Order: sequence, then structure tokens, then C-alpha cells
Amino acid sequence: MTEHRPVTEATASPVKVPTLPDAQTVTEVQHYTDRLFSFRCTRPASLRFRSGEFVMIGLMQTDPKTGKEKPLLRAYSIASPSWDEELEFYSIKVPDGPLTSRLQHIEPGDQIILRPKPVGTLVHDALLPGKRIWFFATGTGFAPFASLLREPQTYSDYDEVIITHTCREAGELTYGAGIIDNLKDDELLNEVIGEGFWKKIKYYPTTTREESPKMGRITDLMRSGEAFEDLGVPPLNPETDRAMICGNLAFNLELKEMLEEYGLEEGANSDPKTYVVEKAFLD
Ligand code: A2P
Repeated sequence: MTEHRPVTEATASPVKVPTLPDAQTVTEVQHYTDRLFSFRCTRPASLRFRSGEFVMIGLMQTDPKTGKEKPLLRAYSIASPSWDEELEFYSIKVPDGPLTSRLQHIEPGDQIILRPKPVGTLVHDALLPGKRIWFFATGTGFAPFASLLREPQTYSDYDEVIITHTCREAGELTYGAGIIDNLKDDELLNEVIGEGFWKKIKYYPTTTREESPKMGRITDLMRSGEAFEDLGVPPLNPETDRAMICGNLAFNLELKEMLEEYGLEEGANSDPKTYVVEKAFLD
């Protein structure tokens, strides 16, 4: 099978290769496990987005029928905050996934395609004011929260920020743990929100298939009350608590049901309420 690489200046032929209208250049790539990696790329000058939103990104591929180059795109949450000069993405690697089987091989200097039309429901605008915000993630569903955790509004709007991340294996927590570790030294947040802003954060990572300090699905840990005990907070209450969910489909559905049992209601950009949900985008 032929591996199609993204079109770069070095490989581009001035005659045959079309110019890529939405191309951005990869600036940094980091691999965490054989299933996960993150990368950064240039940001189009025209792109304005709200932390938590997603865009379509991808690579060029040859259409087997016509032989023409066309983009293969998937929805990816932007993992960097809205103020960042570059864009960051956090991705799974699916060995036979049409996009990620190739995307996982990108290197600095390569080009990706990015449609600068951000959308999404995991935004502060879709929630009513509250005291405590919960970010619930599984796997690569951490990505929009990597953006929101670096967004000053998260700390100006809430007294407490709780981020739960459930993964199969401990290595899959590395990216999220790194983001949280670095928050303490985030110049913008320290300046805008004030030193010690990070004391508002409670990080609750759990694993389900490999030994780690906290084992179990967050849903089960909440049902048993263990999660609330560990975190030192009461169960969710629609008067004070707001929530955002981003993970695999089964997780989203189960947690949605749980949040509704606590009395929270699903909000949207046009109708802010007490929780919002978005599925993680897998290849
Ligand atoms: P488990 O290992 O028990 O299936 P995946 O990599 O398949 O997307 O899963 C990411 C994490 O989400 C895993 O730790 C998985 O746990 C957990 N998970 C899957 N379904 C649910 C669910 N319905 N509720 C809570 N956690 C879930």
C-alpha cells in the first residue's frame, strides 16, 4: 500500500499539485503511548474561536476513482486556549483509521489542512453562572478541557474547577497530567486571575485496566460516593454545579443520565443551562 504523505514544499510539483487553501504547518509533535499523540501547528490569522470548540482538520489524499487530490477531514477539538498564537490538537492513533493511521506520522514542517470554522457546545456561553464547574473526560475527550483549563474565564467564572479523566491505562493520563502540572507556571493565568489561581483546580485521574493510584470508572466512583469523598465536595447540585462532558459515546450517555438525576439540564449556545456534552471524535 502506498503511504500518502501530506504535500510539502519539498514534494510539491508546481504543475500537478494544487495549492492547499487551508494548509497549516506543523510546529511540534509529541507521542505519549502507541495510541496517543499531540501536535501543534500554525494558526490561521482569520481563526477566532472560543476555548472548547472544535474544527475540521486532516490531510490530502488521492481519490481512488478520479486520481485527484482531495482533503480527508475529521472533527478535532482545539486543545489550546483561544489566546494561544498556535493551535494544539490531541489525537488517538488508529492503526487502520483512514486519517489517524497517516496523521500519526506527521513531523514539524509538514502541512495539515484546517478549515477555520470553529463550532461546539463545550463553551462557557452554553452554561448558566455557577459556583463549581466539572469537566468529565475519557481518553482523548480531555482535549477541549486542555483548552478550557488554560482559559482565564474558567477561573473568573468559578470558585472551583474539577477535572476528572478516566483512561484504560496510566500512560494515557500523561498528556492531561502535563497540562495540569504546567498550569501553575502559566504566565497569563497568574497575571490575569492572580497567583494561586490553580488552587481552584481539583484533578481526579482514574484508570480502569491498569494499576494507578485511583482505579475505576468515574461514573461508578460517583455512584458509590467515593469520588465526592475523595474530592471533598458534595454531590452535584443544580444550584451550584455546572458540568461539561466529553468522552466515548457510552460514557457520554451514562453520565448525561446521571447528571439529569442530580437535576442538571442540558444547555446549548442558544439556550444556556447547567450541563453540556460533546462526543470525542474518533477516527
Ligand atoms: P473500561 O476500561 O472499563 O471500558 P476507550 O479507550 O474505550 O474510549 O475508554 C476510555 C475510558 O472510558 C476507559 O477507562 C473506559 O473504561 C471508560 N468508559 C467506557 N465506557 C464508560 C462508561 N459508560 N462510563 C464510564 N466510563 C466508561
